[in-house]
Amino acid sequence: MSNNLFDFGMIGLGVMGQNLLLNMADHGFSVIGFDKDGAKNAALEAAATPGTTVKGVPELEDMVQQLKTPRRLIMLVPAGKPVDDVIESLIPLLEKGDIVIDGGNSHYTDTLRRVEYLKETGINFMGMGVSGGEQGARSGPSMMPGGNEEAYEHIKPVLESIAAKVDGVACVDYLGKGGAGHYVKMVHNGIEYAIMQLISESYAILKHGGLTNTQLHEAFKSWNEGDLQSFLVEITADIFLQKDDKTDADLVDVISDKAGSKGTGKWTSQDSMELPVAVPVIDTAVAMRTLSGYKDERVQAAAIYTSEHSDLSESQEELVKLVHDALYFATILSYTQGLAMLSQASTYLKMDIPMPKVVSVWRGGCIIRSSLLETFSKAYNKNAELSNILLNEDVASLVKSVEGNMRSTVALAAKSGIPAGGFMSALSYFDAYRTERMPTNLIQAQRDYFGAHTYQRIDIPGTFHTEWGQN
Ligand code: 6PG
Repeated sequence: MSNNLFDFGMIGLGVMGQNLLLNMADHGFSVIGFDKDGAKNAALEAAATPGTTVKGVPELEDMVQQLKTPRRLIMLVPAGKPVDDVIESLIPLLEKGDIVIDGGNSHYTDTLRRVEYLKETGINFMGMGVSGGEQGARSGPSMMPGGNEEAYEHIKPVLESIAAKVDGVACVDYLGKGGAGHYVKMVHNGIEYAIMQLISESYAILKHGGLTNTQLHEAFKSWNEGDLQSFLVEITADIFLQKDDKTDADLVDVISDKAGSKGTGKWTSQDSMELPVAVPVIDTAVAMRTLSGYKDERVQAAAIYTSEHSDLSESQEELVKLVHDALYFATILSYTQGLAMLSQASTYLKMDIPMPKVVSVWRGGCIIRSSLLETFSKAYNKNAELSNILLNEDVASLVKSVEGNMRSTVALAAKSGIPAGGFMSALSYFDAYRTERMPTNLIQAQRDYFGAHTYQRIDIPGTFHTEWGQN
């Protein structure tokens, strides 16, 4: 088909779609976008770098006909019905072997259903997580594709050229079968929720200790220059310096404390329970966003339970060190839980998720990029089957080095009435995980007592039941 001109197509020219397409064009690919909104097509062409081949059209069919075969196209439309609607419109226009990528935040079960649905048409449907926000899409996102591995080979050169790079390695790779791409992105977002929650708790403790926004900026800035180096810590440092353009206040002080969410964090928690796998820091992060919405009730409760917080006795310098160590500890625990969930899901849902590749793809471009991923990368390169990164000796020595200050920070938050559920659940998970014999033998006894649910013994194999309370 010699008259087919374009290398790649995009459905949906919102900022993400437009930026991803412009990024492809900057890397030498000819690209065509479709959006019903003529203004978006014009905006796309206007934003193109001179000398690149970029076109926007208002008809889907027009776009499809101008693509080289096998056709490669991404859709970036809102998750849910819009994705199904686009698929229905595409089916009569595409041929066997064409590749359609859903780059939105779709639920992985929807992706699996769509892969199956399109199988008999021969159209390769792939789910791909894209992280890095609008800027990332333009200058180098992290991308998490999953689905048909052969189809991936056709899109690989384009994705590798537009992805963020760390040490020359592109932050994109084939991450597994079926809905694996969206599964990995869902867990990425769960970890994102957890770390954001932990940072907000760090802020609460330091603010309680009297740090001004300028001092908070300095603390986060210095952390970002050390072992807590990460995108989220970096932007947090910036946030404390931002002035409001409507008042004289610092912007952070006039932002409402009701936190929004689009649902990917909740999906992670829900799915963790299905597996099951324990991700309590993520669960807490989701719960705290929910609790943040109970504004009226919190105002009433604040009047009833007036705070008798003890003042912190630590100097600001000591406090910054304690909270740094707690954030470091709990951040490791957030990755621990998310990664353990992925390893488990990989087996249970038969996705074959390559864990060393996941951490490599997360090293750059995405919201949870951080220097810690280098350590995790080494851990998985040593043992790709590692069920929990806490079992890696390098991770263990990092955790042990800050464990004492983690405990002090949690104690201090509890004593002072500062909500620090993320820190607390990170520590509880750690303490449970490192406990050889948990007190859950008593739960087994209770279950057998009231419901004859039976139990196992530590000394004799088999299943037992007791008529409790009869001796
Ligand atoms: C990313 C982000 C991105 C988005 C989240 C926000 O990786 O680029 O995760 O996908 O910012 O969907 O989610 P909430 O609105 O639920 O916080």
